[in-house]
Amino acid sequence: MAGAPVHFLILSRNAMLYSTSRIVLAARARGHEVTVADPLDFNLAVSRGRPDMFLGDHPIPRADLVIPRIGASITNYGLAVVRQFDLMGVPVLNTAVAIARSRDKLRAFQLLTKKDLDVPKTVCARSPDSVDQALSFIGGAPAIIKLQQGTQGIGTMIAETREAATSLLETLWAMGQDIILQEYISESKGKDYRAIVVGGRVIAAMRRQAKKGEFRSNLHRGGLGVRVDLPKSYVAAAVTAVKVMGLEIGGVDMLEGKDGPKILEINSSPGLEGIERTSGVDVAGAIIQHAEKFVLRRKQRKKARRSATFGGKDPNILAEQRARRVKA
Ligand SMILES: Nc1ncnc2c1ncn2[C@@H]1O[C@H](COP(=O)(O)OP(=O)(O)O)[C@@H](O)[C@H]1O
Ligand SMILES: [Mg+2]
Repeated sequence: MAGAPVHFLILSRNAMLYSTSRIVLAARARGHEVTVADPLDFNLAVSRGRPDMFLGDHPIPRADLVIPRIGASITNYGLAVVRQFDLMGVPVLNTAVAIARSRDKLRAFQLLTKKDLDVPKTVCARSPDSVDQALSFIGGAPAIIKLQQGTQGIGTMIAETREAATSLLETLWAMGQDIILQEYISESKGKDYRAIVVGGRVIAAMRRQAKKGEFRSNLHRGGLGVRVDLPKSYVAAAVTAVKVMGLEIGGVDMLEGKDGPKILEINSSPGLEGIERTSGVDVAGAIIQHAEKFVLRRKQRKKARRSATFGGKDPNILAEQRARRVKA
C-alpha cells in the first residue's frame, strides 16, 4: 500500500454491479475503508461561499478520495454531485469536467483532433439543407450516425445508402437529437480495440469482434473480447487521448484504420467485467493502487503549498514554537 489507509467513497447506483464490487473488494484487500453511495441520494446545498452536501438527512460520509462511476442515464445529476465534492475540496478521481468532455462525442473529437490525434471523419450539422454537403465530407454511404451522448452501442447507427442516411438524419433532427455523422471505417470489419488507461499507462487491452451481422463490437451488443498485445501506436494514442480529456482512468475505443489508430471515444467509467475476464488483468486493483498514489501526491502537494505560504516553514511547527515562546 502506498501511504496510510485511505477512505474511499465510490459514487455508484448499485454496490452489487460487477465493476463497483470489484473496486470495493480491491480497496478492502489493500486495507482501505470504502463506502458506496448512490449519486442520486445526495442533496446539494448551494449558498455563497459555502458549498455543502447531505446524504439524505445525514452529513456526507468521510472521504479522502471520491471515485465516480457515473452511468449515462444520470450524467447531469451525477456530475453535479462530483463537482460539489470538488468545490468542497474533496479530491475526485476523474473530475466532472473531464467526464463531461469525454461523454460528449463531438466535444471529445474537437479536443482530440486539436492535439493531432486521428478520428473517423465526422460532421455535426443541424439543417436539412446540409445533408448532401455533410455526406460528401465523410465520403458518402455507408455512413455512421451517432447520438452525441450514446453508450454501449445504443445510439450508434449505420445508414447503408445516401437515401437511408438522409431520412435518418432528417428524423433525428426533427426529434431534436444532437447527432454526429461519421465516416464508416470499413477496413475495421466489426473489430475494434479497447484499452484501459490508468494513471497515464495502458494496463489492459482487448480486441473486440462484433457478432455476425452486426457492425458494433460492444460486448453489450454481443461482441466477443479477446486478449491482445496492443501495438505501440495504439498504446500511445490511448494514453494521449485520456490525457487530453484530463481523466485519470479511461477506456479508449479505437478502430484499426489504414494509417493506424482512429479513436472512437473515451469512457470515463469503463466496465471492468469484460476486460478483466479477457485480459486476466486485475484492473480494479490497478485503479486502487493508482488512487493511493493520487491521494498521497495530493497530500504532499498540499503540505508543500502550506509550507511555502508560511515562509518555507510547517505551520504546525511555527504554532508550536509560538506556544513555547508564550510559555517561556
Ligand atoms: N465510424 C465507424 N466505423 C466503423 N465502425 C464503427 C464506427 N463508429 C462506431 N463503430 C462501431 O460501433 C461501436 C460503438 O461505437 P462508439 O462510438 O464506441 O459508441 P458507444 O458509446 O455506443 O460504445 C464501436 O465499438 C465500433 O465497433
Ligand atoms: Mg464504445
